[in-house]
Amino acid sequence: MPLSLRESITQARTAGHLVEVESSTDPHLDMARVIYRHDGRPILFQNVSGYPGWRVLAGIASAREYFAMALGVPAEELIHRLAAALDPSGLNQPQVITEAACQEVVEPDVDLTRLPILRHFPFDGGPYVTAGIVVVDDPDYGPNVSFHRLLRLDERCFAARVVEKRGTDTALRKSTGDLPIAICIGNSLPVLLAASMSPPMGVNELAIANALAPIQVVPCKTVPLHVPADCELVLEGRMTHATAPEGPFVDLTETVDFVRPGPVVEIDCVTHRLNPIYQALLPGKLGHKLLMGMPKEPTIYAAVNQVCRCTNVAITPGGASWLHAVVQIDKKGPDDGCAAIEAAFRGHGSLKHVVIVDTDVNPYDPAEVEWAIATRFQADRDLVVLTDQPGSSLDPSGYHEPGQKARSAKLGLDATMPWGAERAAFEKVRYETD
Ligand SMILES: Cc1cc2nc3c(=O)[nH]c(=O)nc-3n(C[C@H](O)[C@H](O)[C@H](O)COP(=O)(O)O)c2cc1C
Repeated sequence: MPLSLRESITQARTAGHLVEVESSTDPHLDMARVIYRHDGRPILFQNVSGYPGWRVLAGIASAREYFAMALGVPAEELIHRLAAALDPSGLNQPQVITEAACQEVVEPDVDLTRLPILRHFPFDGGPYVTAGIVVVDDPDYGPNVSFHRLLRLDERCFAARVVEKRGTDTALRKSTGDLPIAICIGNSLPVLLAASMSPPMGVNELAIANALAPIQVVPCKTVPLHVPADCELVLEGRMTHATAPEGPFVDLTETVDFVRPGPVVEIDCVTHRLNPIYQALLPGKLGHKLLMGMPKEPTIYAAVNQVCRCTNVAITPGGASWLHAVVQIDKKGPDDGCAAIEAAFRGHGSLKHVVIVDTDVNPYDPAEVEWAIATRFQADRDLVVLTDQPGSSLDPSGYHEPGQKARSAKLGLDATMPWGAERAAFEKVRYETD
């Protein structure tokens, strides 16, 4: 059975994964340092200095096995579960209910300084919401859900980072006045995963969440939007056409993103659960990386399967979980490796470097992948270099022009065994184990 966020915490505690911090910890700089020390493990702060009544959770998305446990599948099945949930023919809208945990408390007034929003580095633009998913309604496409980091400006306002030409930006550009929004914080892993996906316009990410694990939604109190019923905290308000400087802030690449104008969000209503848990994602670290990269694995998998038999895809953390992938194929012909390289770039437009390996190489193990490159790859035969391609806005080494898509060179290594070669010369000898 798929798990809610609170059930995932209980499961992590039972499995011995959960780090529980009883001592009072300050969300201003201290908390980020403690989360960093435990990166890869869920961590629950029971006492948040200056914020009585709140707990803070981080790290719940920082390993594949936590997603697998939440969805009730083995980790190697995740890619297939994600691919199935992205299939539009299998989508149903979530059930709508009228009384929900996320509205157990309706705050009498709005004061964002009463929320334990973390400040991560002294050079940051300020305290940042990092695990907030934003629900908007596009007049043509309907509901859209995506992550947006939010810099707290004052008691009522944030500056949002909104990447151009995606769901939120498209809806904001169409609205002549303010765009109603709901920011949901403290979500289950299936909801977090669904919000990370970029399905075609018109597909509601909450329907994808519902396909991963049945969820319920509830209408907001002050805006015509539905939000996951069991999330911890909902900030209802409006995204305006006014802007404020957004940044500096650390991005996925663990480098500092520069300051840009971001739309100002004004909050009109705050609701939350009893004994609320504020959720955080440490910028650039494992949870952030997995949520960015994992949803691209099924799209690469589908694209490569169009040209040859793909058996697995790993977006690797060393490549910021965005720029690098290892694609495992069951090679059936001399050109499969090269075709897989080109298809992988079609499957994930921001992918910069890709390595193709055979089925006997574990794509999650960097040493095995390097071994395949060392023993099966020749640069003058198996290397594909593409110049002046659409690239990632996140890559500091790319070619960036304000207002335009970044450009980048791309590189593919076919580290599969040469076609027709004697397999015994390429297969790793395995020692017997007792
Ligand atoms: C952890 C995480 C943080 C993200 N932060 C932002 C952000 O600050 N701004 C943004 O525009 N997109 C951000 N994204 C990407 C969006 O969630 C989403 O993938 C993108 O907007 C495309 O979805 P859409 O076209 O359906 O809106 C983030 C994704 C993840 C997983």
